[in-house]
Amino acid sequence: MSCCLAAALFLHGAPLAAQQQRSVNEQRLRATLEKLSEFGRPEGAGFEGGVTRLGFSEEDLAARRWLVDQMREAGLEVRVDQAGNIFGRREGTDSNLPVLLFGSHIDSVPNGGNFDGDVGSMGALEVMRALHEQKGQTRHPLEMVIWVNEEGHHFGKGLFGSSAAAGLMDAGVLERRDGQGMTVADWLRRYGQDPARFADARIPRGRLAAYVELHIEQGAVLDEAKTQIGIVQGIVGIHWYTCHVTGFANHAGTTPMNRRQDALAAAARAALAVREEVRRVAGRQVGTVGYMKVEPGARNIIPGRVEFPVELRDLDAGKVERIWGRIQERFAAIGREENATISCEPLQGDKPALTDPAIRAAIAEAARAAGYSTMELPSGAGHDAQQIATLAPVGMIFVPSRGGISHSPREFTDWADIANGAEVLYRTILLLDQRLDAK
Ligand code: HGY
Ligand code: MN
Ligand code: MN
Repeated sequence: MSCCLAAALFLHGAPLAAQQQRSVNEQRLRATLEKLSEFGRPEGAGFEGGVTRLGFSEEDLAARRWLVDQMREAGLEVRVDQAGNIFGRREGTDSNLPVLLFGSHIDSVPNGGNFDGDVGSMGALEVMRALHEQKGQTRHPLEMVIWVNEEGHHFGKGLFGSSAAAGLMDAGVLERRDGQGMTVADWLRRYGQDPARFADARIPRGRLAAYVELHIEQGAVLDEAKTQIGIVQGIVGIHWYTCHVTGFANHAGTTPMNRRQDALAAAARAALAVREEVRRVAGRQVGTVGYMKVEPGARNIIPGRVEFPVELRDLDAGKVERIWGRIQERFAAIGREENATISCEPLQGDKPALTDPAIRAAIAEAARAAGYSTMELPSGAGHDAQQIATLAPVGMIFVPSRGGISHSPREFTDWADIANGAEVLYRTILLLDQRLDAK
């Protein structure tokens, strides 16, 4: 037996001998992920070149149309709701039972990777294909879902489709306009939906038995712990604010340093204040200033106006509120010292969500039965599951992200790990089917 096979046998700490034959098909899943990556791939790049497939974009729409065909080929009854979410249904033996739902998203951030959301969505399709192939019977009706605009880069509203399904979004968002002058409503029409019926996307309470989402971890915990499967304990709350600094644009040569209202200097201090306040208290909370738009933006003009976002995340919503309060106090002081004004508007505030203990137990049992190592961990990334948690019990399955890199073309997860994740999803759904709503 060659040395590297021996090493492979003990890769990630579990003796391969214990790892069972998978029901899901790794090669087929890989081929599907590679095909999906073509929608929004940079010109002339390969799979490793990453992807830009924003929510509500032509690339996303083309990928969704291709996926509808794939889902039909897997024997699913496909429907698209008024928010553009795609559902693929497989009947169970008892249609009175609530739906067992599983899925994820396929939209990306700008210059993102081909695993974030894609692994969970194509993993869900692979589960349906395996059941179709093996003529598997379930009690519950099963549905896979491809949510719309999870990342929210387009229109500044993340978790868009799942928020609509959970009734957590007011229709006012439909009037938001992008840089091309298109509104969300315009894009819904482009996707074949009727914005006037947007509220119909809401899933009635009691319709879902449970929701399970497979996703890459995006952080480095599993990779560094050489653990194959992550059982997610909870998903962070995410708060987005848009801030504007107003100073006074003036000549860079003739305006003395002590008579300036330099909006960029104030914004720079504000960004550092965010970091200091987030770091001031112990914990896993994070804060980010993701960009700065400077006006007028010329070498020889003192910046008069700056726009920058603030994003805060933690499992403890109260802690985020307190940190934001202190940040605002810092902004007020910086504004006074820099003779500028800093005003911020909330853009999005998604609540944290805890996963369901019974689903965590089912995921653990499914993974162990398949011979995979597991650990429990929180999610620093946001996911559609946190919105659906307001409707039904949810669970999340993580697979390792190499080096903890994500939202980057260098995002990568081993193909075997992806297949392990899909296998655990497959087994978890079958376990929940037996256990939930038991006679
Ligand atoms: O931002 C997030 O956490 C997720 O990737 N949308
Ligand atoms: Mn994601
Ligand atoms: Mn993401």
